[in-house]
Amino acid sequence: MKNRCKDIFNNIFGGEPQVVCFAPGRVNLIGEHTDYNGGCVFPCAIDLGAYCAAKKRSDGMLRFYSENFSGDGVITASIDELSQTGSWTDYPKGVIRAFRSFGHALPCGADLAFIGDLPDGAGLSSSAALEVLTGTVLRELFSIPVTRQETAVIGQFAENRFIGVRCGIMDQFASAMGKKDNAILLDTDALEFKYAPLPTDKAEIIIVNSGVKHSLASSAYNDRRRECEQALADIGSAVKCPSLCSLTPELFEKHKSSISDKICKKRARHAVYENARVHAAYDALVGGDIERFGKLMNESHRSLSLDYEVSCSELDFLAKVAQVIEGVYGARMTGGGFGGCTVNLVRKDRADSFTDTITTVYKSQYGIDAAVYRITPEDGAHKI
Ligand code: GLA
Repeated sequence: MKNRCKDIFNNIFGGEPQVVCFAPGRVNLIGEHTDYNGGCVFPCAIDLGAYCAAKKRSDGMLRFYSENFSGDGVITASIDELSQTGSWTDYPKGVIRAFRSFGHALPCGADLAFIGDLPDGAGLSSSAALEVLTGTVLRELFSIPVTRQETAVIGQFAENRFIGVRCGIMDQFASAMGKKDNAILLDTDALEFKYAPLPTDKAEIIIVNSGVKHSLASSAYNDRRRECEQALADIGSAVKCPSLCSLTPELFEKHKSSISDKICKKRARHAVYENARVHAAYDALVGGDIERFGKLMNESHRSLSLDYEVSCSELDFLAKVAQVIEGVYGARMTGGGFGGCTVNLVRKDRADSFTDTITTVYKSQYGIDAAVYRITPEDGAHKI
């Protein structure tokens, strides 16, 4: 991929790029919709992602090209005029604007060629990868003193401010801070994290793409955030809590009657219990109990489907079928939801048969060929 990216740069812009960088997508193992409720998440970066080859220009122009959106051709913009136009370049443009907001205005323009192998709209964070990739390229190309963690924060800022999705920090953080063969336990409130080695000798992480694009996701996502904010305002009048995830399940049960709206109460229940599951899952993994980890994944799916209502029939089907296939420790939808992928933790010696069974059964039920990604946990964004 690195060489292809350089070749594309050469074909489109001519000459050699000065830097080539990679940023991975992510899969979240457990802890869904907790990252904007002050809770913990447990994702890992994956070996699918996006690449960018770039070179400085002597003027103030930016030229963008992506092999994945080759029909759009080369899109140009001036570093002083970076308005959003509804194309894929809104992401890199948003990051460049965010760099400026953080005090890192670009001294000159650049040519940037992108290519990636992450499926779009599948919940594997192709947008976050593009944001973190842009940040990494800017850092390397212009020697801007930002840390890897800051590229995540700036990426989230760009998504919140310029794209308009009020996402949490999980996706950008995983893409920037991933570590080979490890998952990241991230406390999104304190922005503190620790790595946890995954038992890659015993189990495989297998992602199954439902093929349903989560197109409604951003407005429904923002709705969920509002419902959680309402729940917090209500319960906060009964018990001191800075965020939903600062509540233990016991405290939530004691004070939940203060949440007047039934829907908001369900959303809050998911957030509180999901956060407790993340801690239990981390302990199970560190203690070598993969079975328990898998059961918590199954419970997470149930809660996302029934209480948070961000699943869909295809994802429910994929998770339910997977959960009873031999050798599957756990299965759940992953990411924002409303389509996208499931993540399955599967015994290594059962990975082939799992892949066959799940794709066959899904095809006969929905007539869709599900893409399967047998991923390995990878390092976060870097220059290559
Ligand atoms: C999307 C967002 C994340 C997170 C997940 C749900 O991927 O970008 O911040 O909220 O949904 O866990």
